[in-house]
Amino acid sequence: MTLEAIRYRSGSLQILNQLLLPHETVYEEIRSVQDGYDAIKSMKVRGAPALAIVGCLSLAVELRAGAGGDDLVCFIRDSLCHLTSARPTAVNMGRAARELMEFTENESMEKNTEQLRDSVIGWIEEMLERDVNDNKKIGNYGAQHILSGVPRDSVTILTHCNTGSLATAGYGTALGVVRSLHTLGRLKRLYCTETRPYNQGARLTAYEAVAEGFPATLITDSMAALAMREKGITAVVVGADRVVANGDTANKVGTYQLAIAAKHHGVPFYVAAPSTSCDLSLESGRDIVIEERPPEELTSINGVPVAAPGIDVWNPAFDVTPHQLITGGIITELGVFLPSELQAALTGRLTAL
Ligand code: MRU
Repeated sequence: MTLEAIRYRSGSLQILNQLLLPHETVYEEIRSVQDGYDAIKSMKVRGAPALAIVGCLSLAVELRAGAGGDDLVCFIRDSLCHLTSARPTAVNMGRAARELMEFTENESMEKNTEQLRDSVIGWIEEMLERDVNDNKKIGNYGAQHILSGVPRDSVTILTHCNTGSLATAGYGTALGVVRSLHTLGRLKRLYCTETRPYNQGARLTAYEAVAEGFPATLITDSMAALAMREKGITAVVVGADRVVANGDTANKVGTYQLAIAAKHHGVPFYVAAPSTSCDLSLESGRDIVIEERPPEELTSINGVPVAAPGIDVWNPAFDVTPHQLITGGIITELGVFLPSELQAALTGRLTAL
């Protein structure tokens, strides 16, 4: 069974409504940029790479239907600006918007409106294939790096949030590393955290693990340090919403405390992310804007109240793990780098943000 968060063919886009998983599998039609924005904002689709891909594909669908008329460049600029504003922490949509706008402006100098429409749609459609290919490389590099520390053994991995097929165009990033280890027959067990408050681990990673047949165990976030002490965790591997120049990494809230616990227990801590999740324009994690989400995500689960009415709530969706705690490395499609090596490895390969 192949899990698909995104179903696309020219002119038609459907996304799996992740708010209904794991109980219902419902695909919803995305017909416009506004539909794409709403799906991103409401978290029907989530995960840094998937946000950018669904955002851009929603534009492709509207362009295919003829939107933009003669002022295509202006329509594309406004649409990308709107899509980028849906969620601030992940860099992927902002990066895609910047690159696509640059491409659009260059192409518009030599193409008529209909040719421009086709080439912009073509650029967007390539994102799907590029993301899956990058994720496969991340999976292989990550698996080899982890296994090089334990040449003969199977490994036990702890992960957080959801970074699999549901968060990307396919294969996954951190969960792609797990997938590669499983394919090699070297995955002893995956521990996935519940990931409060939105439960991406319990609802989505556990769902993917069951569907793919990974040997996997669900724990609450508060059990992670104990699991590191008691369960022989070989490595912690998480995804990223934004990796900045010094290697500081924003990821789902709870990642920071996992990195601290991993350091205490001498467990290597890895971040797995495509270079499209890296932002060399920011020097340190202090500069990353952290999205704060509505209090209801803490005070209720699936609409059922679980907290004392009237209590104040703080709900940052992400936290920043300082680079000093990323002891295993940053796994990208270009290889595995220490945080101190990242900037040199990516300079010249990434367009400036
Ligand atoms: O709020 P979400 O569900 O979009 O947060 C997702 C995460 O933090 C993921 O770990 C990250 O985007 C990496 S996805 C490959």
